[in-house]
Amino acid sequence: KTIYILNGPNLNLLGQRQPEIYGRETLADVERLCADVATPAGFTVRLMQTNHEGQMIDWIHAARHEAAAIVINPAAWTHTSVALLDALHTFEGPVIEVHISNVHKREEFRHHSYVSLRADGVIAGLGIEGYALAVRRVCSLLG
Ligand code: DQA
Repeated sequence: KTIYILNGPNLNLLGQRQPEIYGRETLADVERLCADVATPAGFTVRLMQTNHEGQMIDWIHAARHEAAAIVINPAAWTHTSVALLDALHTFEGPVIEVHISNVHKREEFRHHSYVSLRADGVIAGLGIEGYALAVRRVCSLLG
């Protein structure tokens, strides 16, 4: 069984982008942390990142047939995208929303999330460890 780890805009620059907020670790490090949790539990992780909203929506549609669960860091689309929320409503498995930074400690516009209206759980401010914890949660939900 496969768990999609989906990442939105600018996260390709994780490690270089505002390291004081997001840290120095990269998406490759995220993938390794997630695989370390998923593999022993019998799951495979597929980490993807895009800067294009339509691509993200297409991946969520693909997840309907290909993934048992979605862990998603929607990045800035969290705060803007009804289209992403609607796409996630078409997916029936567990969805966990992850933010590396504590969005509630930041600007007001980051306090609202469209994605949270669908997410089964939300993790914010735990750095990239948040992704591994989200994977641990979906592994236990999926048994
Ligand atoms: C983020 C928080 C968002 O507000 C921001 O737009 C991001 C990353 C996080 O992981 O902390 O790009 O989702």
